Amino acid sequence: MSISFDKSTKTFYLDGKNITYAFFINNVGYPEHLYFGDKIGHDFLLFNRAAGGHSCTAHIPGEEKPGLNCYNNFASEITCHGLSDFREPTVHVENDEGDRLSELIYTSHEILDKKPKLCGMPMMRDGGKTLIVHLSDPYTDFGADLYYTVYDDCDTVARRIVYKNGRDTRVTLNRAYSFNFTLRTGEYDAITLFGAWAKERQIERTPLHHGVFSIDSKRTTSSATLNPFIAIVDRATTEESGRAYGINLIYSSSFALKCEGVNDGRVNVQGGINDFDFRWVLDSGEELATPEVMLTYSSEGIGGMSRAIHDAMRMHLINPRFAYKPRPIVINNWEGTYFDFNTEKLKAIASSVAGTGIDTFVLDDGWFGARNNDDAGLGDWYINKDKLECGLNPVIEHVNSLGMKFGLWFEPEMVNPNSDLYRLHPDYAIGSPQRPHCSTRNQYILDLTRGEVCDYIVDAINNVLDNHNIEYVKWDYNRNVTESYSYGRDKDNQWGFAHRYALGLYDLFERIVEAHPDIIFEGCAGGGARFDPAVLYYFPQIWTSDDSDAEERTKIQYGTSIAYPLSAMSCHISVVPNHQTGRVTDMKTRADIAHLGATGYELDTSSFTDKDRRLTAEQVKEYKGMEDLILFGDLYRLDSPFNSNYFAFMLVSKDKTHGELTYYRRMSGNVQSNEIKYAIPRGLAPEKKYYIPELNLILSGSTIMNVGFPLKFLPSDFTTLKMHFEEK
Ligand code: DGJ
Repeated sequence: MSISFDKSTKTFYLDGKNITYAFFINNVGYPEHLYFGDKIGHDFLLFNRAAGGHSCTAHIPGEEKPGLNCYNNFASEITCHGLSDFREPTVHVENDEGDRLSELIYTSHEILDKKPKLCGMPMMRDGGKTLIVHLSDPYTDFGADLYYTVYDDCDTVARRIVYKNGRDTRVTLNRAYSFNFTLRTGEYDAITLFGAWAKERQIERTPLHHGVFSIDSKRTTSSATLNPFIAIVDRATTEESGRAYGINLIYSSSFALKCEGVNDGRVNVQGGINDFDFRWVLDSGEELATPEVMLTYSSEGIGGMSRAIHDAMRMHLINPRFAYKPRPIVINNWEGTYFDFNTEKLKAIASSVAGTGIDTFVLDDGWFGARNNDDAGLGDWYINKDKLECGLNPVIEHVNSLGMKFGLWFEPEMVNPNSDLYRLHPDYAIGSPQRPHCSTRNQYILDLTRGEVCDYIVDAINNVLDNHNIEYVKWDYNRNVTESYSYGRDKDNQWGFAHRYALGLYDLFERIVEAHPDIIFEGCAGGGARFDPAVLYYFPQIWTSDDSDAEERTKIQYGTSIAYPLSAMSCHISVVPNHQTGRVTDMKTRADIAHLGATGYELDTSSFTDKDRRLTAEQVKEYKGMEDLILFGDLYRLDSPFNSNYFAFMLVSKDKTHGELTYYRRMSGNVQSNEIKYAIPRGLAPEKKYYIPELNLILSGSTIMNVGFPLKFLPSDFTTLKMHFEEK
């Protein structure tokens, strides 16, 4: 049974594939955390409880005796404020009487075979058992339902909380996080993914300390600055071994994730919607559903945690229509032409790659409105007749006649002040009545908190999609929200804007994606600034970064792989010198790195020679040969570009019948006196025999993974080597 309840100890046991999560209802009716880790028996666990150093100078009424007598001492599933709990609260309630006190006590629970849908928000999909624990404040009837879902085939617990106002009067939530759990005393590090445009998801490992370690976004998007992800690992945990907890918030707006080192040495982990600039009023009977979080555990190091996250996302988060489906191999015109194209130019690019295996032509920014540069046109989703005199169809028909599919770029959430839409509806843009707009790339953001604005966008985009043979969409988003103010709400009702924006965004995604179930959507945000599980719920892949320089990409893709599967990363081969770094790398290197994701091309191929075409065809063929590993396989990271001269990804099929190793060396050093670099592959079956074509050798998995291979890189910078392993 994946969820069970022991009545005598009031303990809940939740089992995943290799994990157990356990908590119980204690003597005061409070849900107390007991355990999260490797799978264990459903034993009596209450011996695990402990009261640490005297930290509490207030006791629960009637409990004034030494020991576990204040909320502060309980390992916790949800923390409240004001009644002997001095830790960061999971929920901060303001009652109509003016006090800010709450305590949440067990009333009942349900165990469901089918996961209830979280209306209007993305979440892990059905397929798991769900526990709902109902809690209520005995003095106010303010309530919280704790939701837990576990799956037999993965190591993730999905959690969320629904807050409910059961009172006659209103309640204001100043914070409404999605989860809380307490890790036992230990020396922990947090691993987070920080970055910027063209430098997304770099890795930082920080020792946790007493007090609060937190990451957040205040940008109304998940952001490139900090991804909504934390791994918490034992100080001794490495890539290959040790305990690792991965926390992925399924949310695309301002978030907060926190780890609080409490004085007794335990660590309280929590997070959800950022409470900065947040306040949510619940009238009598109303409720607020919070975003879901994926809590993943592995005792096989950071690598084990990543593999568990990859599996959970591919099996239960990403749109199942596409999760395991071969991805389009695109030629995208953006870096090839920018805004400077016409029908003939686009046709020429498409023709130049026909027959190479590239199967989708994507027309990027600039095809609509008066969009001849980034000054104008966003919001006007009709053809730019200056460039495309006869519309999109001649290009689409040409692309289709070459046996390829056609894809199109949109930036639905934006408007240029120089657009018909803005001239007609200036109030559709987010903005404050007494200030000028902050502008980035000459664009403002549409107010997705308003139903009529969302309706306009849905109609405009659906109109283009319904009237053309479009089989792929790139959904871009190129700036962050400022002046969070909606002309659609009165002045007392402006709080919680960032969350309302997220709800509007999900509504758009849902209505546009559902109306076009056969179109594959790719997320994008000025590069990879909205790379999060919420986007992945709707769109199976996301543009990883505008920086497609192979060297930079080793870091970006390595960092992204900590929390996301390779099939979610869109990776293009672009021209050199690279447009972002000016660096020149070999075509083979660019292809080998771009092949570690959903690969594609982004350059002007219209001047391709026959040799270029042949090379492209060979690359596509090579990618097709490893595509199953990208979609279904397990990733083993062998060398990190963050702390070495190398980057190495080993991909192994689930049945361990084949694998592929990509090694990259940054600097070549002195050709005569180079260090010897050994590859030590991982992930193969020790007892199986594998043929290695590069060495023309058959070796057992145990030999391969223990003896290793000295690598023979070409004597130049930024070079790659590949090795294949096929069961014999
Ligand atoms: C930013 C994206 O990351 C690019 O790939 C491209 O689509 C441009 N926007 C277009 O404006």
